Amino acid sequence: MKTYIVGNWKLNFTVGEASIYLHKLLKALPNYRDIEVVVAPSTIALQPLSLQVDRHKIKLAAQNAFYRDYGAFTGETSFSQLRGIADYTIVGHSERRYIFGENDKMIEKKVAAAIRNKITPILCVGETESERSFGETADVIRDQVIGGLTDVADDDLDKVVIAYEPVWAISSTKAAKLATPDEIAEVVALIRKTLADTYGKEVAEKVPVLFGGSVNPSNAGAYLTVPGVNGLLVGGSSLILSEFTDIIEVAKRVRS
Ligand code: PGA
Repeated sequence: MKTYIVGNWKLNFTVGEASIYLHKLLKALPNYRDIEVVVAPSTIALQPLSLQVDRHKIKLAAQNAFYRDYGAFTGETSFSQLRGIADYTIVGHSERRYIFGENDKMIEKKVAAAIRNKITPILCVGETESERSFGETADVIRDQVIGGLTDVADDDLDKVVIAYEPVWAISSTKAAKLATPDEIAEVVALIRKTLADTYGKEVAEKVPVLFGGSVNPSNAGAYLTVPGVNGLLVGGSSLILSEFTDIIEVAKRVRS
């Protein structure tokens, strides 16, 4: 299985800045066969970047889109409009869940809409700090995994990527708020067990599971060697080109 390094740019960079970053990243990267490098710019930058990108080196991800293909949905962009432009899409990121009120029902429809439009969903799951402190982590993760995949046909399950992002570890600057390899290993094992129990062992082994939450060049190696982790979803650190390329270098070292 490939190692995934996904940069989630969130609400950062103008289209011009995004294009310059992509230009530099393309120049900096060789063509890695075992590493899938993906960047997720703002929706407005996706179309111009899709004309600029060399997909042998880098793939593009949307950060969000709406599940209906067209209609009276002011302000939305659909996955059908992104078809052929985005290779991947993040779905169910905690900022979408908690700032924009997305629930499992909407996320389930978005995962299905992405697959219908040949865009690979990266389904984000993760518990909040209070859910963890009340011992609810396993239930939350199970519900989010099963809920998010409800509308996916069995044959399409190998077109899904899952990212475990503990909400309390996102954009954290305090060491106490960083997820430890043991904590990650436990939840990643639970994700695979949930997949195995629901869809069978073969599917569980095929679905890439990424980790995200304050990943940077110094902790990337430790996170990438957690059993069951197939890659990283990087926010803040992906905004700094040298840090993002350092993380890709770490991935290359860990693979070899
Ligand atoms: P972070 O963001 O790396 O800044 O914590 C990760 C994410 O939210 O996907």
